[in-house]
Parts: sequence; C-alpha cells; structure tokens
Amino acid sequence: MSKTLNATLTLFFIATMSTIFADAQVLKSPNGEVSLEFKMTADGTPTYSVRYKDKVIVRESRLGFEIQGQPQLSSKFVIRNSEVKEYNQTWKPAWGEVASIRDHHRRYTLRLQQKLDNMTPGRELVLRFRVFNDGVGFRYEFPEQSGLKDFVVKDEKTEINLTGDHKAFWIPGDPDTNEYAYSTTKLSEINALDKSAKTPEILTRSPIADNAVQTPLMLKTADGIYVNIHEAALVNYPAMHLMVDKASFGIKSILAPSPDGTKAKLSAPFPTPWRTIIVSDDARKILASKIILNLNEPSKISDTSWIVPRKYVGVWWEMHLGTGSWNYADVSETSLTGTDWKSLKPNGKHAANTANVRRYLDFAAKNNLQGVLVEGWNIGWEDWFGKQKVEVFDFVTPYPDFDVQELRKYAAAKGVKLIMHHETSASVENYDRRLDPAFKFMKDNDYDAVKTGYVGRIVPKGEFHDGQWMINHYLRVVEKAAAQKIMVNSHESARPTGLHRTWPNWIAAEAARGQEFNAWSSGNPPEHETILPFTRLMGGPMDYTPGIFQIKLDKYGKKEQVHTTLSKQLALYVTLYSPLQMAADLPENYEPFSDAFQFIRDVAVDWDDTAYLEAEPGDFVTIARKAKGKDEWYVGAITDENARTSNIAFAFLPAGKKYNAVIYSDAADAHWQSKPQAYKIEKREVDSKTILQLPLAPGGGAAVSIKLLS
Ligand code: NOJ
Ligand code: CA
Repeated sequence: MSKTLNATLTLFFIATMSTIFADAQVLKSPNGEVSLEFKMTADGTPTYSVRYKDKVIVRESRLGFEIQGQPQLSSKFVIRNSEVKEYNQTWKPAWGEVASIRDHHRRYTLRLQQKLDNMTPGRELVLRFRVFNDGVGFRYEFPEQSGLKDFVVKDEKTEINLTGDHKAFWIPGDPDTNEYAYSTTKLSEINALDKSAKTPEILTRSPIADNAVQTPLMLKTADGIYVNIHEAALVNYPAMHLMVDKASFGIKSILAPSPDGTKAKLSAPFPTPWRTIIVSDDARKILASKIILNLNEPSKISDTSWIVPRKYVGVWWEMHLGTGSWNYADVSETSLTGTDWKSLKPNGKHAANTANVRRYLDFAAKNNLQGVLVEGWNIGWEDWFGKQKVEVFDFVTPYPDFDVQELRKYAAAKGVKLIMHHETSASVENYDRRLDPAFKFMKDNDYDAVKTGYVGRIVPKGEFHDGQWMINHYLRVVEKAAAQKIMVNSHESARPTGLHRTWPNWIAAEAARGQEFNAWSSGNPPEHETILPFTRLMGGPMDYTPGIFQIKLDKYGKKEQVHTTLSKQLALYVTLYSPLQMAADLPENYEPFSDAFQFIRDVAVDWDDTAYLEAEPGDFVTIARKAKGKDEWYVGAITDENARTSNIAFAFLPAGKKYNAVIYSDAADAHWQSKPQAYKIEKREVDSKTILQLPLAPGGGAAVSIKLLS
C-alpha cells in the first residue's frame, strides 16, 4: 500500500509519522513528475526508489553504513519520527549561468533508530530526502549520540539500482585522477581497466575495478530518459565512485579510500554529502538543473565584490607545446635551500621571463582580456615531475629572469591582473605548510587569483586525490584564500560538487581532461566537449582552456592536433561554462585570425540568463546566454565527429527588439582533421522571430554574438 503526501504550502509542516513499518511512503515533487518512495524492509533496512512520470528510474535501493569496530549500520532500524515540508525560495549566486535560482522542492526527513540486542540505546541515523521537479537528492546525518561519537566509516552502502542496460557516458572509477576521455557503452559493457590501459599518459592512473566508474555518471534509458548521478556539497568526506553490477544494473557507492583502507574519519554530528539523481526526458533539462547548487549551503562570503569573473591569457600553451619550458635550467637535481639559481646556466627556453610576460600583458590589455597567468615563474621546476619530492616548491622565490616588482608595476599600468600559479607537484603537506607566506606574497604583489595544481601521486604517500584528506585540503585552501580575498582555480582536484555556491571564490577547477591533452597525447576526441556539460560540468565550472586557433601542431614539430575546427573553439566559450575563461593559444597564433578572435574579445563570462537550445550527450550542444547587465547575447553550438545542422530559434531574445548578430561558423569544406581553420563570418539583423540554420562541420561548431542595434 502506498500513501501519497500532498504538500502545497511553502515551509508548511505537513505530517508527522511515528512508527511506520510496512507502509511505503511516497513523496512527490512540487509538479508531481518525480516521486520518491521510502520503504523499510522486513528486517528494518531503509530503502528508497525513484519514479519519473510514473516510470521507475531507481528501483528499490538500500541505504546504510559499515562502521569500523561496530555492528553494521544498515538494518534493524525503526522510524522514530518523520516530517515532510515544502520549500520554495529564490536566491542569487555571486556569479553564474543565471542571475537568480529557484529552489523549489519537498523535504522528507526520517529519524531512524537501530534496535540491536546488545546496544542500548540503539544508534540513530537521520535520512534527508529532497524531491525536486527534476530529480532527487538525499543525504545521511549522524546525530550527536553516545553510541556514535568519533568513528570510522569502513564503507557507505548506498545503492542506486537502475532498471536496465542503459547507455552510459563514463570514465573509470579512479580515486587518483579524473583526466580520462569518456567511453560510451551500455552499463553491461563497462570495462574500466581496459579503457584506462589505453590512456598511458595519465601518470596517476589507478582504477578501482573493471566495473567502477566516476560521477557525474550520465545515462540514457532505452525509452529516452536521461539520468545523471552525482553528489553535492562534498565536505570532510571522500568522493564517491560507483560500482556497477553488469548483470543486474545495480549500483553501489564506493568511497575513495584513505591510506589505511578505511574511508572517512568522522565525529557526530555529521551530515554526509548529498547523493543526487537528476532525471528528465529532455536532455536540455539535465543541463539546466540547479539541484546540485540548491543542495549546497548559501555563500559564506558576504561581500563578494572582489570576486570578479574574467578572461585571461597565459604563459602556458608554449610549455605544453614544448617550445617554452617551466624550468629555468636543464639540470636534473635541485634543492630549495642548496641551489644557487643565479649561477645556473639558463636553458634559453624559460617562458616566464619578464619580457615574455610583458608581451602577454600587452596582448591582454589590447584585447579585452583581464588576466595573465604565468606558470614557471618560481624555483623548483627542474625536477618537479613524478619524483614525489617533499620540498619541491616554496611559492615565493622567483627565477632570476622573472622580475616580480617590474611586472607588478607593468600589469597595474596596463590594467591587467597577473594570475598566480601554485603547482604543488602533489606535495601537499609542503603546500599546506607554505600556504600563508605564499598568499602573503600574492597580496604584497597584487595577485588576486591563483591556479593550483596537484600533478602526480600525493605526498604524503598513500593518499588519493579523491580521499577525505585531500577533499579537506582543497577546501582549506579555498577558505584561507577567501580570508585573503583570493580566487582559486584548482587543477587535478576532485570533480566539483557545487561548493562554488558556498565558496564563490572557488571560481573554477579543471578536474577533467582539459585542452592540454591535445598537445601531448591522443587528445580529446571531437565528441569530448559534447559530453563534458553532462558529466564534469554538472558540479561546477571548468577551466577547460578553450581558444586554440593553431589547430594542427606540425609547425611545432608535433604530430598531435586539436580535434575540433576553429569555429568550435569559439563556441566552447559558451557551451563550456566558466566565469574564468582562457584564450589558451599564443598571441602570435591569434594575429592571422583577428576577425575570428573578435568573438573572444567580445564574449562575456558572467550571465543573467541561459537558454539550452539543443542537446544530446555525445552528439551536440547549443546554448544561448545573456551577458550580465547588458543587452547582449552569445550563442555556441557544437557537434561531435558528425556534421549536422544546428537550428537556432532566437525566441530567447525579448520580442520587438532588433539586434546585430555576428555569426562565426565552419566554412563549407571545414573538417576538424583536414581543414580545421576554414571558417566564415557573416553579419545580419536578428530578432526574436529569427530562425538560423547553421551547418556544423565534422568536429565543428558555430558561435554568434548578438548586440542590441543602436
Ligand atoms: C597540469 C595543469 O592542468 C596544467 O594546466 C599545468 O600547466 C600543468 N599541470 C603544470 O602545472
Ligand atoms: Ca591537468
């Protein structure tokens, strides 16, 4: 028997249930399309299932924990009390894809108590469900209690049991890296070990098992329903990966381990991160979902005026191409204290030199780019890679050819911000120890943003990038940065879970396979950027570093190339959302294409509104966005390896106004492989009734800037 709880009033207390055993409780989303059913099994195991438009999406799935040195915390529960409420509010993010976000859902909270013969009083566990119109979030809470104070989680036993052999867009479940290309297979065909063997360029590769995948996991059912599984508000807890049963399509959570093999050291009271299941029969609504942000806490930073979205260039790509180097000298061993840097012979390739940085500052100032990232400015790069050195960087000592004071003055005169770089080489205790002086050095020299990096195996040994200790580290850096009014863009960190709502100075992260792989590996296939919005970007903005115009790298003696057309590189500024967007190529590679570069000069990085126009994971994405505070819109349309036509209806524009559109698209003979730089630019007048058909080349894309006609 099922009972439906109908909640209608905002924050209106609806029902309290004391002892419900056999009955299933059903809670519907505000519009009734999503429903959550909670049921206790006969042995007192809490279970839930999820339906969407009356179709089962998640079948009966158990919840619980294994706690070290204690009986299982997963069965023999009774419900002490439960409560249902409705919540309906809007809030404004400091920056984002839209200016205001509605959070409308129903809440179902259950206080459970275990009845074990030898444990009096039994341990308590709280379950919190939130049912939105586009999915469900739930978390566990360990309330304060005498039987559970400081404890160790051996395993979280969350199930998310699916209903069929869905199509899955996945990367291997690997607690040490998320920099994989995606595989698209049925759930029964997941082969994480095999795929990882095909990406030998990843230094820290260590997939958990052949059937382990990472979240966000994007799925499509045979009857066309899209399901996305991830987590929100990952704080003081390891990242969750998923073990897929290839026969039953059941999924079990598997948490990234600590060095001792346990998962989390906790003290009650403690809420876990939210587990999220986003669902729709329209792929565009998956992209539009705000569930993950809504499940995060409001901003802990009250004055966010110093958090400024921006575009930037960087002394960066030339190192990935190999024409420049991070290191100053070609020697194999250095020490932070024992090396006389001035006496070393420069290698002639060191890119972070004063003259070169000035060149980038000039370029940024001329082209409406507000920042310049400089990598390789600080001592330690001679032997930073893969050596697990403890004392590798100090983050305050420049190489002899990088004049901090001169560049500080030059940047200020140009009105451009220098962006700090802290590669840690994954020597994280070293970074923690040096963080205060490193941030002081930044403030003293006018840097207000830092790109952090965690390449390699974590020092101390045995920790993983996704483990509880590292999750705490990333947030500690962000919190300390917030206290100093510093923005953070973290690379090689765990994939985001919407914490940028709470800490809007965590302005971006890489945390997936970025553009850099195109410079020195098999690269990112043309479909890659059509999958990222449905996977990595579900949790937050990505510093993908778009904008490579010199697509083929043979001019640098390299066989590698970027797997898109030039026009698609433009479209990525819109389709891959980030408040921090790099123009990643070298200034000299933009010069021959100044007309196309105009789109990058113009495009905004902070938005009032977003319209998801066309989307299918792995195939295509078309998005229109309105620039914050301006009557300007930007559209990006991208395709995978297949040519297709994007049909753009301009109904997102306000009716009755005329706009000038500049359309940057693939030329008729463009192709990511044979003719990637063939593009055309057209101008025309548009209004809300315009419908544009834009042919996209294989691996291609189109970008449109739309400004009010004056
Ligand atoms: C990896 C980062 O993703 C990349 O952007 C950076 O250049 C290198 N690490 C060096 O820190
Ligand atoms: Ca990286």
